[in-house]
Amino acid sequence: MLKRVLVGCVALLALALALPAPAAEDYAAARQLMVARQLAARDISDPRVLAAMDQVPRHEFVPPALRGQAYRDHPLPIGQGQTISQPYIVAFMSQAVKLKPGDKVLEIGTGSGYQAAVLAAMGAKVYSVEIIPELAAQAEARLKRLGYAVQIRVGDGNQGWPQEAPFEAILVTAAARRIPPKLLEQLKPGGRMIIPVGSGPWSEELVLVKKGPGGKVTSHSLMAVRFVPLVGGDQPKP
Ligand SMILES: C[S@@+](CC[C@H](N)C(=O)[O-])C[C@H]1O[C@@H](n2cnc3c(N)ncnc32)[C@H](O)[C@@H]1O
Repeated sequence: MLKRVLVGCVALLALALALPAPAAEDYAAARQLMVARQLAARDISDPRVLAAMDQVPRHEFVPPALRGQAYRDHPLPIGQGQTISQPYIVAFMSQAVKLKPGDKVLEIGTGSGYQAAVLAAMGAKVYSVEIIPELAAQAEARLKRLGYAVQIRVGDGNQGWPQEAPFEAILVTAAARRIPPKLLEQLKPGGRMIIPVGSGPWSEELVLVKKGPGGKVTSHSLMAVRFVPLVGGDQPKP
């Protein structure tokens, strides 16, 4: 039985490798459909978010064997046990922080670099921290090749990026058990942070945190989500 399953897997892999890669115009068409059906048809209405999602070549951010799935309505593995988020979640988080062109934005969890590219395409000055050096190096090379100006640093995102603070917006793309205090400190008065927060694996709420002009912090939950965990120093153990 096991042998038959293995033979089936090898055959499927061989077929996937033998198929010709889709042409650039096919990817562009798939991207337009993604924007129309997965984003605009739901609640993504910010024209700058829609334009950025239509422009950034998501297939460049996934492993070659998964490029045919790049514009589907789900997350995909990117290696090292990590994922590139579902397109809708990337758009939702980008919209929720209400960016203006030129805003300084901190992303925690560079991963493939896709969320960072979308923010850069919206005109933000993007700083991104990744804890896995291999992912950071790959994302940095990819973003450079594709022409997105994003500053990337390897480190524990729980500490933020104090040398570049304060930030108008912070997006955390891994699930925290509690909001890292250093990130709150590095948020500018008037700024917004979006972060998945939860007490158990795969059961988090996407929380929008606002810092008022006087520094008062308020937060509210926007929806239930599933993210890989934010690891590192300040996070309490499960
Ligand atoms: C869901 S993936 C991020 C997807 C990414 N934003 C993208 O567009 O591909 C979460 C990422 O957070 C990273 N991560 C987890 N804990 C971290 C920490 N303490 N500091 C920085 N990055 C962290 C993981 O290594 C992983 O790459």
